[in-house]
Amino acid sequence: MERSGQNFVSWEHRYSINIPLIDSQHKKLIDLANELHKACRYDTAAAKEQFRNTIREAVAYVQYHFSVEEQLMTKTDYKELTEHKKHHTEFVQEVLDNVAAFENGKKFIPNQFVRFLRDWVLSHIAIVDIKLGEYIINLQKNGKLGDVSIKENAENEVGKKIVLAVDDSKTQLMQFKSILTMYDVHTCESPLQALEMAKNMAIDIILLDLDMPDLTGIEFLQHLQQISGKHQIPVIIVSGNSTEKLILASKNEGAIDFIVKPVEPQLLIKKIQYQLAKKN
Ligand SMILES: [Fe+2]
Repeated sequence: MERSGQNFVSWEHRYSINIPLIDSQHKKLIDLANELHKACRYDTAAAKEQFRNTIREAVAYVQYHFSVEEQLMTKTDYKELTEHKKHHTEFVQEVLDNVAAFENGKKFIPNQFVRFLRDWVLSHIAIVDIKLGEYIINLQKNGKLGDVSIKENAENEVGKKIVLAVDDSKTQLMQFKSILTMYDVHTCESPLQALEMAKNMAIDIILLDLDMPDLTGIEFLQHLQQISGKHQIPVIIVSGNSTEKLILASKNEGAIDFIVKPVEPQLLIKKIQYQLAKKN
């Protein structure tokens, strides 16, 4: 994503906790704070929509990032896990309360919220995450880290499973990319183009929206059956529209699972892992 102009907050080396995986996620949080700040500078409908989309992306990413840190703490028997997790939980609650106020038109001051986000993230890194960084680096120095991975996966790493996400919302596609960093995620806003990709690429799983302009998700499934026959690529529907009729129709056309938007990152990851494990 292009992030231009003067930044509200910039990454500095002193924020590094010396764990590449966590540092890169902290950088992404800073990018999101800048995006939110940019969106709340104008009072236009487009800027409000941009703010709404970015806030949703930020909430999903914060939760994903915390889950990565908490997994790392659990795997390494970090004794301050409970305390650290409490900081995360309280922050998420505060963010969700603010987002609910924003969505419901209650008292919400965008600028104040963005400053709160920035200040919380920077002080959390400097006081709480830095200790985790020191602990992990010490384990590593003493050869006690075992097989716990602390590196961000390289893009297009050989052997990564390929996920094709089809949705006419750019924001939703960005969210998939930010959540599913363990996979090689290809995104497509046009279902017709996505069918071409399904014909020509070795895709492991498809995430499919239902309401799209040039072809509905149900029609996509019908075309997909025609092109792939018995060896159909597993498809998980990810839709804001979850009537029983639609769920049934998509299952009848070959979809294997259904997720209702807004997407809960851990649920999405679990469902994909389950389907990929079944395939192998
Ligand atoms: Fe943390």
